[in-house]
Amino acid sequence: MKGNVSVTVRVPAKVNVQLAVGAPRSDGFHDLANVFLAVGLYDEVTVEPSDGGLRLTCSGPDADQVPLDRTNLAARAAIALAARHGLGEPGVHIHIAKDIPVAGGMAGGSADAAGALLACDALWGTETPRDDLLAICAELGSDVPFSLVGGAALGRGRGELLTPLEVGGAFHWVFAVADGGLSTPAVYAEFDRLTEGVAVPEPEASPALLEALRTGDPSALAAALANDLQPAALSLRPSLAETLRAGTEAGALAALVSGSGPTTAFLTKDAESATAVAEALIASATCRTARVAVSPAPGATVL
Ligand code: C5P
Repeated sequence: MKGNVSVTVRVPAKVNVQLAVGAPRSDGFHDLANVFLAVGLYDEVTVEPSDGGLRLTCSGPDADQVPLDRTNLAARAAIALAARHGLGEPGVHIHIAKDIPVAGGMAGGSADAAGALLACDALWGTETPRDDLLAICAELGSDVPFSLVGGAALGRGRGELLTPLEVGGAFHWVFAVADGGLSTPAVYAEFDRLTEGVAVPEPEASPALLEALRTGDPSALAAALANDLQPAALSLRPSLAETLRAGTEAGALAALVSGSGPTTAFLTKDAESATAVAEALIASATCRTARVAVSPAPGATVL
């Protein structure tokens, strides 16, 4: 291991501009056509050597909701990387400066895993090949590989098989943060319940949506946004419909639940409109807070 230094990695949140969900597979996961877009809300993961074994701390407004034991994906990432290199129990202090909503459908936990992996690789000088890092990410969770690469990508399989996508311009978003989280497995289980007895089609990426990303056209992207998990998230959290309505009435081009929710995402035509929609959402009292962010954003980056 290298000397007594610390490494900080910045990692973005994501929104799924299309989340097409297939029928459940025999392993319990669902095949997806998952169009990820990284957005400029970031967690920062800092690692430094620790004499006391693996230690995890977290700061930020929602820090009390983050588990600080070995179940945290960031801790699991450090353990997995150490195992890959035969280093045994990692002596590392991982600090997460959290700005991404917790359990919000914006891949905050996945971001921390990708950040911890890249940061530990730099701290330990292990120089893990990119493909090996991506394989470790995929073992940690379906969304973790995308947190590493950022930008925009189509995720197939359970979301871990990535093809990078071209994005032709900046998109301006507002994210309404709800009180409390939603469990991703619970939302998928509700999707299964709602689609019982229905022939669920093979998930396919929408050509119109890919074209809208390529040309950077917010109106075209707004028309193509789609999330198959939205009915399930709304079924578990009916009040989200009021948030979606409030943002649309305030001038958003389109609104949808972000991933498995309960964060809701609003695409706007420009930065000025995003500020106005965020203010209206906060005034509507249908959410805890609202944040503006621009996409695409770069993936996990050593600062
Ligand atoms: O891969 P990850 O650990 O993030 O998945 C969390 C849960 O979300 C899984 O246990 C599963 O219930 C659900 N999931 C799914 N199909 C996917 C991705 C996640 O059913 N493609």
